Amino acid sequence: MPQESVWQNLIAIEDCFRGDVTEARLARQTYAVYDTPDGITVSLARCSHQGANLCYGYFDGRTIECPLHQGLFDARSGKALAAPATRPLRMIEARICEGWVQINRPLQKPSAPPPDNGPETGDSARRDQS
Ligand code: FES
Repeated sequence: MPQESVWQNLIAIEDCFRGDVTEARLARQTYAVYDTPDGITVSLARCSHQGANLCYGYFDGRTIECPLHQGLFDARSGKALAAPATRPLRMIEARICEGWVQINRPLQKPSAPPPDNGPETGDSARRDQS
């Protein structure tokens, strides 16, 4: 069964650095927003190598260089281009809508409450002690 998702505002387009990478946060997750010649793309900010924040890396408009070990990624596809990075970035579906960069995120279903086993009675406690 396909997972439901929803478009959510991530960052106002006017708050994104032109031709650069911008850090944005939503629901305890950090994202890297890239302004490329082909448009805005978004990935998780965590480097796929050892988790450095790519928002502090060097972005040349098409590639992002990790600030920790200089792994290189294509900011449009997420493809790892240079070691030590070998796994792609986790790219996030994004669009521009009414002045916002929006991302398509899975719908978070509320967690189920713990089962109600009824009120605890002294009987069971007494039985356990015997
Ligand atoms: S943490 Fe990014 S290349 Fe190592």
